[in-house]
Amino acid sequence: MDLGLKGLRVFVTAASRGLGAATARQFSAEGADVAICGRNRERIEAAARQIEASEGGKVVPLVGDVSDASTASALVARAAEALSGLDILVTNAGGPPSGTMDALPLAAWESAVQLTLLSTVTLIQAALPYLRQSRHPAILTVTSYSVKQPVPNLMLSNSIRGAVIGLTKTLANEIGPEGIRVNSILPGWTRTERVIELMQARAAQKGTNMEAEIAAQVTAIPLKRMAEAQEFANVAVFLCSPAASYIHGAMIPVDGGAIQATL
Ligand SMILES: NC(=O)c1ccc[n+]([C@@H]2O[C@H](COP(=O)([O-])OP(=O)(O)OC[C@H]3O[C@@H](n4cnc5c(N)ncnc54)[C@H](OP(=O)(O)O)[C@@H]3O)[C@@H](O)[C@H]2O)c1
Repeated sequence: MDLGLKGLRVFVTAASRGLGAATARQFSAEGADVAICGRNRERIEAAARQIEASEGGKVVPLVGDVSDASTASALVARAAEALSGLDILVTNAGGPPSGTMDALPLAAWESAVQLTLLSTVTLIQAALPYLRQSRHPAILTVTSYSVKQPVPNLMLSNSIRGAVIGLTKTLANEIGPEGIRVNSILPGWTRTERVIELMQARAAQKGTNMEAEIAAQVTAIPLKRMAEAQEFANVAVFLCSPAASYIHGAMIPVDGGAIQATL
């Protein structure tokens, strides 16, 4: 199937590694021009070079922290300038820290709101004027399966990502009449660098090994394994593509069946 992405202009935020990098690479493989961002210049430039080398398309690396509102707006403007417009925005960011109600001071909540919710707001507000000029506009928010099933010890993520879902659904009603599609992916456990580091830290703490910790984590997942970042990227790229032209306001889990709710 031709996804219809050739020549479309895509901005994937937080994309020097993990879900963002895999998604940017897959857009590039489909013939899109891509901008990516991250906070560390060396890492984002290396990621852009790697994708260009493997896929051959244009990849523009941008440096900036999406949790800072003015930086996030400026990143969108720079992406649109470098790509001569914007058709697709993927609002990814790093995850907020783990912790329980007792362990998390108010300042941690405020930072997490900036990182997870307000970055999404700012990126979308800045991108809409460009998307309104596009023939195939689409937005994808990246949330978590935790919006349907809270993950222990992830109080901030479980709470604040629910607001991003409310934003996504409300925005679908607001901008759907203009033909701008917006969806969200709810990733489950995915073997990104961050998750590998988390599993290594757990193993070191418990005196086990990383594979044992991964095996323990996946017992409640019907597919009995974590996803690869590429499996997330395949769905992300399809949802944003003209091939998914009637999928709008959807919350799509990529979780190996982890969510147990029936509706
Ligand atoms: N992997 C999973 O199992 C899973 C499951 C559910 C939800 N999620 C969520 O999906 C998102 C991506 O996860 P991941 O596993 O791919 O994470 P990751 O491996 O830690 O990658 C995060 C990427 O985002 C960049 N980044 C982080 N904070 C940023 C910021 N404030 N501004 C700009 N760039 C930033 C990082 O580069 P720099 O450090 O250079 O900025 C890096 O490229 C996270 O929000 C995570 O919580 C992941």
